[in-house]
Amino acid sequence: MKRALITGATGQDGAYLARLLLAKGYDVTGAIRRNSQPEMVRLEKLGIARELRTVDFDLSEPNNITRLIRGNAFDEVYNLAAQSFVGSSWEQPVYVADVNGVGVVRLLDAIRTYTPQTRFYQASTSEMFGLVRVLPQDEQTPFHPRSPYGVAKVYGHHITVNYRESFGLHASSGILFNHESPLRGTEFVTRKITVGLARFARGDHAAVELGNLNAKRDWGFAGDYVEGMWRMLQQESADDYVLATGVTTSIREFAGFAAEALGLDLEWSGADETEQAVDRRSGKVAVRVNPAFYRPAEVDLLVGNAAKARARLGWEPKVDVRALAAMMARADYDECGQ
Ligand code: NAP
Ligand code: GDD
Repeated sequence: MKRALITGATGQDGAYLARLLLAKGYDVTGAIRRNSQPEMVRLEKLGIARELRTVDFDLSEPNNITRLIRGNAFDEVYNLAAQSFVGSSWEQPVYVADVNGVGVVRLLDAIRTYTPQTRFYQASTSEMFGLVRVLPQDEQTPFHPRSPYGVAKVYGHHITVNYRESFGLHASSGILFNHESPLRGTEFVTRKITVGLARFARGDHAAVELGNLNAKRDWGFAGDYVEGMWRMLQQESADDYVLATGVTTSIREFAGFAAEALGLDLEWSGADETEQAVDRRSGKVAVRVNPAFYRPAEVDLLVGNAAKARARLGWEPKVDVRALAAMMARADYDECGQ
């Protein structure tokens, strides 16, 4: 039986990855940050909260990391833990650098010292491309991060490559484009839209307030992406891979897909700060712009080229953006009704 450690096991990806590895017969340890209350909701929703062992863990605490790695011979370590909300990274830039950047080398160095045979996955991100000059983005595209989050993740990516090249570790970096699900945090734009519009469809006619509607993202389904992470660690040699759908969609269009799945009919009017969408059926404003949600620097457009992952890992995304929006909107509609 293989032994895997997942940091960030309480997060969206951690929950789906834990389910995947358990189904494959792994012995799974979930490394969980100490909070006033353990955040087990996602693992509970997937019905696996009792199936994995859990350990207290914080990426900012080197002693904790060293003890955990030294005391266990994990076959695979998936480093998914991070402060992952880009929007708040301007408010906590030093903490974000410590957790998302330096935290990676704490883990890698413990592995190098105590269990160099352990295979390592780093959760890198399309946010590293930032101000893009190349369409679509692949493993060779230069980085130009636009947020403290992205800057810290660039360090995490490069130190993963460096430990692979310096010490021969089987360390891979997955450069994943946005991936969502009904387990997505409600601060991220997709879930904010699907929760808000689901409530609206249930008769709570408060408009969903959003920032930049023109930004475009390459959105896939998180369940597909954790399969790609696992495949990276099954390769003979470690490498870096982009996972993406190759399709980019604006925030406005995503809201339209979610609305459509909920039986709402949005009519857009205005521009920039005065833009809004009225639901033709109720005549009420369902979406409006609130500049408070604009970011100090924006990533305007992401679209990925996952040809390498397709060719070498046999990885394909299975859920397109319209189906993804519908999946999330319907799940939120059902949840609102409970
Ligand atoms: P998420 O839902 O926000 O989960 C993040 C996890 O990290 C949570 O379990 C959180 O614990 C944990 N964490 C935060 N700070 C920590 C710390 N100091 N020490 C230990 N654990 C800590 O994020 P996700 O969407 O699953 O993303 C997983 C990873 O992939 C992240 O590294 C993210 O940056 C990266 N990524 C995500 C996407 C995407 O579109 N989802 C795309 C590219 C890369 P709590 O429950 O205690 O908060
Ligand atoms: N969160 C949020 N809230 N974003 C909004 C809003 C809003 O009200 N209105 C517009 N947006 C825009 C943001 O400005 C951004 O351009 C886009 O929607 C997506 O924002 P998020 O959903 O917060 O995701 P992200 O792209 O910034 O970051 C996510 O994807 C990265 C991969 O590219 C996170 O999961 C990161 O952890 C991940 O690395």
